[in-house]
Amino acid sequence: MAKWVGGVETYLVASVTMSSTSTAQARVFSGIKPTGGVHLGNLLGALRNWVEDQYAHDAVYCVVDLHALTVPQDPAELRAATIELAHLLMAIGLDSELCTLFVQSHVPAHAELAWLMECTASFGELRRMTQFKDKSEGSEFVSAGLFTYPALMAADILLYDAERVPVGDDQRQHLELTRDVAIRFNSRYGDTFVVPEAAIPRAGARVMDLQEPTNKMSKSDDTSAGCIMLLDDLDSIEKKIKRAVTDTDSEVRFDIAGKPGVSNLLSILGAATGREPEEVAEGYSQYGPLKADTAEAVIEMLRPIQARFTELATDPGETARLLEVGADKARSMAHPVLARARQSIGLTAR
Ligand code: AMP
Ligand code: TRP
Repeated sequence: MAKWVGGVETYLVASVTMSSTSTAQARVFSGIKPTGGVHLGNLLGALRNWVEDQYAHDAVYCVVDLHALTVPQDPAELRAATIELAHLLMAIGLDSELCTLFVQSHVPAHAELAWLMECTASFGELRRMTQFKDKSEGSEFVSAGLFTYPALMAADILLYDAERVPVGDDQRQHLELTRDVAIRFNSRYGDTFVVPEAAIPRAGARVMDLQEPTNKMSKSDDTSAGCIMLLDDLDSIEKKIKRAVTDTDSEVRFDIAGKPGVSNLLSILGAATGREPEEVAEGYSQYGPLKADTAEAVIEMLRPIQARFTELATDPGETARLLEVGADKARSMAHPVLARARQSIGLTAR
């Protein structure tokens, strides 16, 4: 079972005010989209903290298949990607005895609460979301769901009275919107929702593309040389890291603006070995050894994950069963919160 270096103490808690006191058993919620595989940014920015959190918190994790529908999907591919992601999450170390792991669309309360959230968030707020701007610009088809995506995300989180939400830095704005919507709903209709806070890791919060280190690593990029997928074969991972873009001079220094490529390698190696990137930089005077050590650390981190994935993938029936158990637990947590929200806003009892 993977036990990650770093862990909860390394979080940067990004909140201004809190409506609930964090305790050892704080409810944690997070989600990940089943679209085209999982990359190193997902692992270092979010998923390894999911694993850590299941030991100390009441952790609820969700494969957000409804969020995947905001862009057109091939139905067979979406189904396969949902199961593959569940296998991968278990391979990374999520244990359904320790946490609640389920598929978003198996719990209809998400879609139902999302409508109440859409009616609480404003058009202007949603329009300001940078992820919407990035994903809609230049697209020939922009679904209404892509625009209201953060309202569904707010519903995901608020439905579980979540206090902490471990995510990468790119989700900070969505978390702030969730907080604003919860506060607005509570002040309009009376105390209903717990106002959550983002938990963003210090190291690895934003893993950048290896070829274009000013862009975040992303699976939607067609520059696959810049993106390390967790299931890439280990030799190709080594090649990708060794070919990573650095700079023309040869100084090893952590300086995101001046040396984005080198800083990204230092962050990755730091996140993989539980150190700050500045501290990692002190050990190197040349790019070659930095790349070799980064490749080795990443490969050693992924090797056991890949082995476990292969094992789990042989028994999809067991995964389906575990997801059903997760959905049952999730429904029983979500139901009273949805009932509270319906009551607060003035829907009649059913
Ligand atoms: P997604 O694959 O977009 O559903 O993202 C799942 C999680 O990974 C979210 O918490 C993101 O914030 C995080 N994440 C995605 N890309 C990166 C990246 N390049 N660096 C760090 N975290 C990331
Ligand atoms: N929007 C998140 C992302 O793109 C995924 C997500 C959906 C999520 N619902 C969530 C993350 C709830 C945290 C909590 O990465």
